Amino acid sequence: MRRGTDVDEAARVIRAGGLVAMPTETVYGLAADATQPAAIARIYAAKGRPPAHPLIVHLAEDAALADWVDAPPPMAAALAAAFWPGPLTLILRRGARLPAALSASSDTVGVRVPAHPLAQMLLAAVDRPLAAPSANRFGAVSPTTADHVVAELGAAVDYVLDGGPCWVGVESTIVDLTGARPTMLRPGGVARAELERVLQQPLVDGGADAAPAPGRLPSHYAPRAQVEAATVDDALAVARAAAARGERVAILAGAARFRTWPALPDDVRGAVLPDDVAAAARALFATLRELDGAGVDRIVAVDGWGDGLGEAITDRLARAAGPRPQEPR
Ligand code: TXA
Ligand code: MG
Repeated sequence: MRRGTDVDEAARVIRAGGLVAMPTETVYGLAADATQPAAIARIYAAKGRPPAHPLIVHLAEDAALADWVDAPPPMAAALAAAFWPGPLTLILRRGARLPAALSASSDTVGVRVPAHPLAQMLLAAVDRPLAAPSANRFGAVSPTTADHVVAELGAAVDYVLDGGPCWVGVESTIVDLTGARPTMLRPGGVARAELERVLQQPLVDGGADAAPAPGRLPSHYAPRAQVEAATVDDALAVARAAAARGERVAILAGAARFRTWPALPDDVRGAVLPDDVAAAARALFATLRELDGAGVDRIVAVDGWGDGLGEAITDRLARAAGPRPQEPR
């Protein structure tokens, strides 16, 4: 594993069928040439990701969407114009130039145009779409720094392109445009209200009948510690009870929440996120990693993050609180 800021070196690795950790504005991706099935297979192996879970494809800013997907609907053009480059993934009909191996053999594909300049430089240098899931082991927390990638995947990556910390900090919003109504499969970096303003209609929530997406499994985005949701009113009692059982406990909440409590018990650690929801999203995954690093057994996550990016924070904490990763299904 090499690491640096050399886009040309990263492009050589990709062309040769290798894996590059690519910075994006949301989280780091584990990138390979989306047109090379063998390179795609390496992504699944490196992540330990079950083959039934499709990858998303990243396009250059000047790429023609119609080269890679079939018959994108007018809504795709409207959303692309409003939010690309940026943290929005659209599920569309996969074009013939993209291999079936990308999408778990489904005829759909997720595409997005990332905003990070190094991702765009890499896309321009390679001149191919890049398949890239988040650069973490299957089921684990997404990396938001190059150090996180090294800690997660180490030798499984050929080159880590270091673009500094990701500035959105949670993954892209996923909107499925292949059904009768636009459907949100994952809340993320673009707020629901902004999307609905452009679409001029409400988004349907991805339900049981939606395309399977591992980001929607309850087991995802989980640190080692057990996450438990709490309200601002019951967080202290929940934390005290866990500490009394001998667990190492932290309360995770915005700064204003902490100010409503007179004090924290001695045996409960405070993990303070900024009150600004964008800053909290940026810090969330690094904070979960730090708590794991500190040997915390239980994270009591206080609710009430609101809408916009707050919806993504609530979603990731709820998934982290779910059951541990299951066998492929
Ligand atoms: O912000 C992001 O989206 C990051 C950065 C690296 O771009 N990528 C990312 O990829 O989060 P990944 O693979 O960790 O999550 C993408 C989600 C998965 O839950 C996947 O199942 C879903 O998108 N997905 C991909 N293709 C799909 C498809 N054709 N239909 C339904 N869901 C799909
Ligand atoms: Mg992921």
